[in-house]
Amino acid sequence: MGRVAELAGVSVRTLHHYDEIGLVCPSARTTAGYRAYSADDVERLREVLAYRRLGFGLREVAQLVGDPSTDAVAHLRRLRGLLLERRHRTDAMVTAIDRELNARAKGLKVTPQEQLEMLGARLYDTIGGAYTATRRTEPRIAAQIMDALGDAQTVLNVGAGTGSYEPTDRDVTAVEPSAVMRGQRAPGAAPCVAAAAESLPFEDHSFDVAMAVSTVHHWEDPIAGLREMRRVARRVVVLTFDTDEPEWQDRFWLTRDYLPEFAAVLADFPSLAAMSEAIGARAEPVPIPWDCADGLFEAYWRRPSAYLQDHVRRAMSVWTRVGHQAEQRAVQTLTDDLDSGHWAERNGHLTHLDTADLGLCLLIA
Ligand SMILES: C[S@@+](CC[C@H](N)C(=O)[O-])C[C@H]1O[C@@H](n2cnc3c(N)ncnc32)[C@H](O)[C@@H]1O
Repeated sequence: MGRVAELAGVSVRTLHHYDEIGLVCPSARTTAGYRAYSADDVERLREVLAYRRLGFGLREVAQLVGDPSTDAVAHLRRLRGLLLERRHRTDAMVTAIDRELNARAKGLKVTPQEQLEMLGARLYDTIGGAYTATRRTEPRIAAQIMDALGDAQTVLNVGAGTGSYEPTDRDVTAVEPSAVMRGQRAPGAAPCVAAAAESLPFEDHSFDVAMAVSTVHHWEDPIAGLREMRRVARRVVVLTFDTDEPEWQDRFWLTRDYLPEFAAVLADFPSLAAMSEAIGARAEPVPIPWDCADGLFEAYWRRPSAYLQDHVRRAMSVWTRVGHQAEQRAVQTLTDDLDSGHWAERNGHLTHLDTADLGLCLLIA
């Protein structure tokens, strides 16, 4: 036990504790009859320690390593994905620190919100708590997604969040890296694995279909994540956003006239053509109904005053990503234009439309 503890960099006391609580129990015997760790025990210990280092509690680790459907390779893939996420967060934190040092050197004021943002918490661990206020399944978009899923029985929902758009009549497995989002899933919802799209902890062709809704633009490496979906499933269905036309931000009055900063948020996002090519998909437009039930960024294109409400904006990641100053300016200008009638002058024609094509589309491979 002492040698294993030394190699693993933990105390013998920790190993005793894991043994006592049944997390990792040495199952082999030395020639002298003492209990010792078999190769399988070491593998399990390695997984336990890696999940612990990633911040999982003992109870959550016990569930993760006790899941009979997850083998060593699946654990390695999941750990890899979670570590990539962490690296991404660390990089983001270094960038934020540099930005703040720069700002301070120039004598600029850093707002409390900006100071907290620089802690680099995973976006959805920060904003996810506000998500359930307005984000839910929009039945007309759901119908289009269900059509695309076809007769698939086993479904992987990547970046599943709280479970909107997850079919209830199929065998669904969800993947979601944010603990806050996992914690908000309904009690009877499909089982949810803590992992990231870029490194899915599943064998090749494990599912009939892999789906991803309103999540690809949050991934560290969208193309790698899409290829992973392609690897683990025979069919892929992705609801995403088309930025291929050079003037795409002019499609929607909110980005055109009030929040041009949105374009910078998506600056590194791959083109629809590149995403389609990565998985061999065709694209189909997803019109947004005027009374869209899911409070996504474009949902209120015919109900502009909704964007003035704080709880509506907090459930849309865009507003956090553009920063407090841009948000305040956009809200103030929109308030003024709604009051003065300027918004209605420019956008009054929208009141005659029932749906709008604002660049949302479904990739089907
Ligand atoms: C806008 S929410 C969409 C949730 C859900 N699909 C829906 O339609 O309501 C985006 C989700 O993507 C998740 N996400 C972020 N990075 C991810 C990654 N690398 N792999 C998988 N999911 C990720 C976030 O934690 C968040 O739950």
